[in-house]
Amino acid sequence: NELGVVAVGFSGGQTKSGVDAAPMALIEAGLIQQLETDLDFKVTFDGQVHSYTEIMPAEDPDYRNMKKPKSVSAVTRAVSQQVYEHASAGRFVLTLGGDHSIAIGTISGTAKATRERIGRDIAVIWVDAHADLNTPETSESGNIHGMPVAFLTGLAKEDREDCFGWIKDDHRISTRKLVYIGLRDIDRGEKKLLKEHGIRAFSMHDIDRYGIGKVMDMALGWIGSDTPIHLSFDVDAIDPMWAPSTGTPVRGGLTLREGDFIAECVAETGSLIALDLVEVNPSLEEAALDTSLDGRERVVVLGSGWAGYTVARRLDSKKYQ
Ligand code: ARG
Ligand code: MN
Ligand code: MN
Ligand code: MN
Repeated sequence: NELGVVAVGFSGGQTKSGVDAAPMALIEAGLIQQLETDLDFKVTFDGQVHSYTEIMPAEDPDYRNMKKPKSVSAVTRAVSQQVYEHASAGRFVLTLGGDHSIAIGTISGTAKATRERIGRDIAVIWVDAHADLNTPETSESGNIHGMPVAFLTGLAKEDREDCFGWIKDDHRISTRKLVYIGLRDIDRGEKKLLKEHGIRAFSMHDIDRYGIGKVMDMALGWIGSDTPIHLSFDVDAIDPMWAPSTGTPVRGGLTLREGDFIAECVAETGSLIALDLVEVNPSLEEAALDTSLDGRERVVVLGSGWAGYTVARRLDSKKYQ
């Protein structure tokens, strides 16, 4: 069982510092070792948290309402290549972020590699309080971590090579192969796009109404049983009670157990090819750490409320490896 790990210490898709420190925090807490020893993965990891300083532009003015467009474009382009290399070699790819803008890199990388390797389009399950579907024009914040899905689906496009113009058709995913789970803070423009494009979305309201079991059945039923799945997990999907250490917390989220359950159900399909774990910000740590977590989980929780190992230990999913 082969696993490629990419550690992305990047925070430029939003304005709070600290989210770039999450990969190191997770690694120092023993994540890699746990993947190797407890889960028997053969791990390929270059041993470093990338900060991409060598490719950071000297100046990076706002463009089309986007903050730090050239930096985010350059970093996600590099991440895309890193993920592409792992996925092309048939490895499951675990990417530790970093803010959610990095998913422009991870998903474009697996989408391209999977097309080339087995001739299939991937599906994406986006677990998040937010839809991250803003175009540069609909965004109220200008933060690119609120836009990755727009760039990945082609709802947002840009010709300038240094501002995401590097994204080509083979990097993109269809809005029909995208499913959201956990939504509860959607902007006006995003709501419109969700509706216009008939994007499948399960909000917290749906989870309350149907229960997480039924929601997962519906979500996976929509994707179908023979499709490689990329799971992009924003830790702010989990309620701030469990995951307080994140830049844009929203009340009324998933319980810790519902978060586990989502990961378990996706792993059970056998179709999981990649996982992103993003928006963990250890510097926003809260003193009141939940004490009901078992010892091993607490090792990597680090005040981030919830983190890598809980998801990662359920990755055993090998249909497309
Ligand atoms: N919708 C808001 C925005 O566009 C918040 C996005 C939060 N995204 C995230 N990955 N935490 O700025
Ligand atoms: Mn979010
Ligand atoms: Mn909002
Ligand atoms: Mn997000």
